[in-house]
Amino acid sequence: KIIHVVLTGGVGSRLWPLSRKSQPKQYLDLFEGKSLFELTLERNAAVADDVVVVGNRDNSHLTEKVMKKLAVPFTHIIEATPRNTAAAIAFAAFNAHPDDILIVTPSDHIIEGEVQYKAALEKAIGLAKNNFLVTFGIQPVRPETGYGYIEFDEDTVLAFHEKPDLEKAISFTESGRFLWNSGLFCFKAGFFLEELKVQEPELYKSAQLVWQDSVDGLLNYELSLQIPSISVDYAVMERSKNIKVVATHFEWSDLGSFEAVYDYLMQNGHSADLNGNIVIGSDVHTAFVGLEDCLLVHTPDALLVLQKKYSQEVKDVYQQLESSG
Ligand code: GDD
Ligand code: MG
Repeated sequence: KIIHVVLTGGVGSRLWPLSRKSQPKQYLDLFEGKSLFELTLERNAAVADDVVVVGNRDNSHLTEKVMKKLAVPFTHIIEATPRNTAAAIAFAAFNAHPDDILIVTPSDHIIEGEVQYKAALEKAIGLAKNNFLVTFGIQPVRPETGYGYIEFDEDTVLAFHEKPDLEKAISFTESGRFLWNSGLFCFKAGFFLEELKVQEPELYKSAQLVWQDSVDGLLNYELSLQIPSISVDYAVMERSKNIKVVATHFEWSDLGSFEAVYDYLMQNGHSADLNGNIVIGSDVHTAFVGLEDCLLVHTPDALLVLQKKYSQEVKDVYQQLESSG
């Protein structure tokens, strides 16, 4: 069987104030009445036999609402607290038959080019059947410290570097030998778990305990806290020798930071002033004086003024707000 595993447990803190805990960006109906979450399900529907959504209890009602609208049967794995992507994927893998092929996708990316997307999936499924962990590579267009970089030769992965510093990101981007990791993955459930067990035995064991204790896909809070919070990129992709990459030809944006949003908007006809300053969320006439490459983000109860190159740091604002209640 082919199972689409949708990860939807993140809050998108780098996109505050557009995205928040109560309304993460993947559920905002920004695309002709549809959300990124909904578009993600549509995009994979033709390929997958089953759907598993791994999300957080804070937004499980948002997931249920969309699934009801789409009338798609699905398995809902509800985390009591986020433990990052290695654990989230492990739960979906424990829930599957070892030979099932998992297509793991984030729920908050923009992908355009249905034909190219399906072609990439088909290729990946073929490789996954032969016991490879498959990543999907994107041609880098700027140095980006928030992504993983894949050093590649055809479909062979020579090295995987998660979130490099700026200096490395610049040299990787310029070299032409690297692709961005898109954050989509494809592998056999059983093979992923074997690799996880080798690379991160403690994580494997604690996630397995939580899974065995779960009731109807609901995970226990206290037990979950024992799981090391590590992303699948660091836990498995950087270390495994059995990785392949499919170089993709579809349009992709993860809208993960305001820099990515900025690039996406500019490519799609959003207006900017002569110095590259833009406004999001308001039509009120706005002037930027003495500023370059800045964003003004307007929401009913919060404003953000940001120099684009500091986009990764928006999460600090979010964290401050969280900790001050
Ligand atoms: N269920 C669940 N539980 N989902 C989670 C959790 C969790 O604890 N943490 C994150 N997610 C979901 C997010 O909602 C998102 O859809 C996806 O998993 C990836 O997590 P991010 O937090 O957005 O990862 P990232 O953007 O820092 O990095 C990943 O994606 C990049 C491309 O967008 C990595 O795979 C990078 O290598 C990659 O370049
Ligand atoms: Mg992301």
